[in-house]
Amino acid sequence: MRVLVTAASRHGGTAEIGSRVAAELIARGHEVEVVDPAQVKTLDGFNAVVLGSAVYTGHWLPAAREFASTFAADLAKRPVWLFSSGLATAPAAAANSPAETRAVMTAVGARGHRAFGGRLDHEVLNLAERAIIAAARGRDGDHRDMAAVEEWAGQISGELARTAIPA
Ligand SMILES: Cc1cc2nc3c(=O)[nH]c(=O)nc-3n(C[C@H](O)[C@H](O)[C@H](O)COP(=O)(O)O)c2cc1C
Repeated sequence: MRVLVTAASRHGGTAEIGSRVAAELIARGHEVEVVDPAQVKTLDGFNAVVLGSAVYTGHWLPAAREFASTFAADLAKRPVWLFSSGLATAPAAAANSPAETRAVMTAVGARGHRAFGGRLDHEVLNLAERAIIAAARGRDGDHRDMAAVEEWAGQISGELARTAIPA
């Protein structure tokens, strides 16, 4: 299977989750390309897509939203999985615009959406970001669970193995 893994990321934490998904899929025998969502020109040749985004002030980053709307029709023809990465944890994760997530899932016919923890490093934030995080009392640190990411990628691989999909 040729799989596109594309993740919108401002400070690299979500991109690394995408890379981990890609590495796990490659380890399980898939051919994978990791491309920034803003750089994707076509889905031709890809059998499946994993699309992710960091969550900022409750929303996916514009590049991920634009990717989903630009390629909605093409995505709907392929198996698609979505993931979000943020600091909000359940039940607070419900604050991350669940209606928006559901709308994207419906528009692209996604098979699933997974929310992963994120990473916060005050040192790399700009002033506006620091102000938002201070107001939200965001916890500095790496809250990503890469074992859970790998497990999820394994589930995707299993589903792909059970699906016959023309490119
Ligand atoms: C200004 C700012 C706003 C954020 N807003 C949210 C939010 O609304 N919900 C959430 O779950 N995480 C939020 N986060 C946490 C980020 O989603 C988290 O740090 C993520 O891992 C960043 O991914 P990136 O390194 O790929 O940009 C916010 C972080 C910053 C700096």
